[in-house]
Amino acid sequence: MGQDAFMEPFSSTVGVFRCKLYLLLLGFCSGLKVAVPSHTIHGIRGQALYLPVHYGFHTRASDIQIIWLFERPHTMPKYLLGSVNKSVVPDLEYQHKFTMMPPNASLLINPLQFTDEGNYIVKVNIQGNGTFSASQKIQVTVDDLVTKPVVQTQPTSGAVEYVGNITLTCLVERGTRLVYQWLKDGRPVHTSSTNSFSPQNNTFHIAPVTKEDIGNYSCLVKNSISEMESDIIVPTIYYGPYGLQVNSDKGLKVGEVFTVDIGEAILFDCSADSYPPNTYSWIQRTDNTTYVIKHGPRLEVVSENIAQKTTDYMCCAYNNVTGKRDETHFTVIITSVGLEKLAQKGKSLSPLASITGVSLFLIISMCLLFLWKKYQPYKVIKQKLDRRPETEYRKAQTFSGHEDALDDFGIYEFVAFPDASGVPRMPSRSVPASDCVSGQDLHSTIYEVIHHIPAQQDYPE
Ligand SMILES: *[C@@H]1O[C@H](CO)[C@@H](O)[C@H](O)[C@H]1NC(C)=O
Ligand SMILES: *[C@@H]1O[C@H](CO)[C@@H](O)[C@H](O)[C@H]1NC(C)=O
Ligand SMILES: *[C@@H]1O[C@H](CO)[C@@H](O)[C@H](O)[C@H]1NC(C)=O
Ligand SMILES: *[C@@H]1O[C@H](CO)[C@@H](O)[C@H](O)[C@H]1NC(C)=O
Ligand SMILES: *[C@@H]1O[C@H](CO)[C@@H](O)[C@H](O)[C@H]1NC(C)=O
Ligand SMILES: *[C@@H]1O[C@H](CO)[C@@H](O)[C@H](O)[C@H]1NC(C)=O
Ligand SMILES: *[C@@H]1O[C@H](CO)[C@@H](O)[C@H](O)[C@H]1NC(C)=O
Ligand SMILES: *[C@@H]1O[C@H](CO)[C@@H](O)[C@H](O)[C@H]1NC(C)=O
Repeated sequence: MGQDAFMEPFSSTVGVFRCKLYLLLLGFCSGLKVAVPSHTIHGIRGQALYLPVHYGFHTRASDIQIIWLFERPHTMPKYLLGSVNKSVVPDLEYQHKFTMMPPNASLLINPLQFTDEGNYIVKVNIQGNGTFSASQKIQVTVDDLVTKPVVQTQPTSGAVEYVGNITLTCLVERGTRLVYQWLKDGRPVHTSSTNSFSPQNNTFHIAPVTKEDIGNYSCLVKNSISEMESDIIVPTIYYGPYGLQVNSDKGLKVGEVFTVDIGEAILFDCSADSYPPNTYSWIQRTDNTTYVIKHGPRLEVVSENIAQKTTDYMCCAYNNVTGKRDETHFTVIITSVGLEKLAQKGKSLSPLASITGVSLFLIISMCLLFLWKKYQPYKVIKQKLDRRPETEYRKAQTFSGHEDALDDFGIYEFVAFPDASGVPRMPSRSVPASDCVSGQDLHSTIYEVIHHIPAQQDYPE
């Protein structure tokens, strides 16, 4: 880019054309107008900076004078260069640095230095039928481009949750007037009870760290001319174990009780959220004594091998960095021995096994209820109930309670029949939504189950 790029023939028609534009905008054109596209220009040190200026007038001009001045806060303005018509008169001190191609009033600064930062004033004088003068000011800043920042983590080995702290430091090799910002998973990090920043924001401190602090961190550095983001840093935070649980590949799980068919091999899987991964150990409890039967996250139990029908186990998860452990107890029951025997053993069984038995009963009851709901045309009944007055409801056969659940095993016949007494069974008509409603149209439904048929009982109201 030589000076030739700025050469253009002198012509006042350009100015007249511009003046027509200003006429449109301003509604009148009594003289000279000088305009700059931007009053602030950010320059890059070492590169050329172009300060564009447009001017126009609506009069016959004999002389066009352009003057550039430079001022810094608290200093006298300095003359840089000036021109009349096409001849430029530079300040000899700066003649290689500033270039202007009149009548084009734009100024080229090359190369830009930090000392060139300040205000540039352009003044245009037109001499014709009278003298017109106008000026504009442009603020210029000079900065270095930001280089890509690098994040350092302290300590590099990572930190233990609720114990350790982490400090991230953003390092930038070059760049001026830097503004630092920390991002976690792409979103800005804010000050909080555990997060703090240095005054410049170039270091970010987490004390103490928690599992929630795990994420993709990066440092974003900006100045007026550039911005750069560091690579992503994932701080190492040790935590856990959390949410310990045992699952099996087959069998029925109710709470901490697993029910399996005899002869089945069942694979238990113990898992908990932890970093680093937990070590697991399996403990079996027999006759008040416990012993470790296996290490590792999985345990296979072959039911024939179990001497007892009910066996208590425990899975322990241990994080050897946080030093925390968690354990969960569970019970394995072999079912097809028959619930009768279970019932007979009832009194001698441990409380846990009794609970298990009751749980089993409840499960079976729920299955029955499910079957009943599935095969009973209760919607039809419900519709009919909706239409019927309360007095027409018939009392239905009901089950006994379950104070002694083990006595209730057996085959149940569900029978509903018209009751001559006409005593309403339903307390109000708002209840028909209940699945337990039965009407006179339903006569008999039979459900099989387990062992014996209890004597039918009627509960008069
Ligand atoms: C002044 O010169 C620059 C560079 O050649 C050019 O881009 C700009 O359009 C010119 N301005 C006017 C008003 O002619
Ligand atoms: C500037 O140009 C105008 C018109 O071309 C001319 O009349 C005037 O004398 C010139 N002024 C100088 C100082 O050269
Ligand atoms: C110069 O201005 C006067 C009054 O401002 C006007 O009467 C005269 O016509 C103008 N002359 C030219 C050549 O524009
Ligand atoms: C973590 O920071 C807290 C508060 O700044 C300080 O009391 C504690 O000693 C630090 N812990 C470690 C391991 O540096
Ligand atoms: C963190 O970055 C990794 C890879 O760069 C990506 O797979 C993961 O989804 C990111 N996590 C979040 C929370 O953005
Ligand atoms: C530092 O970062 C915080 C939070 O992002 C922000 O509120 C504050 O203005 C920043 N300070 C500086 C000096 O950049
Ligand atoms: C089981 O241990 C408890 C307490 O450790 C003890 O009181 C009890 O006698 C023990 N029972 C058997 C059968 O060893
Ligand atoms: C923690 O356990 C893992 C796996 O068993 C092992 O590789 C590691 O060295 C242990 N770390 C410590 C600090 O004991």
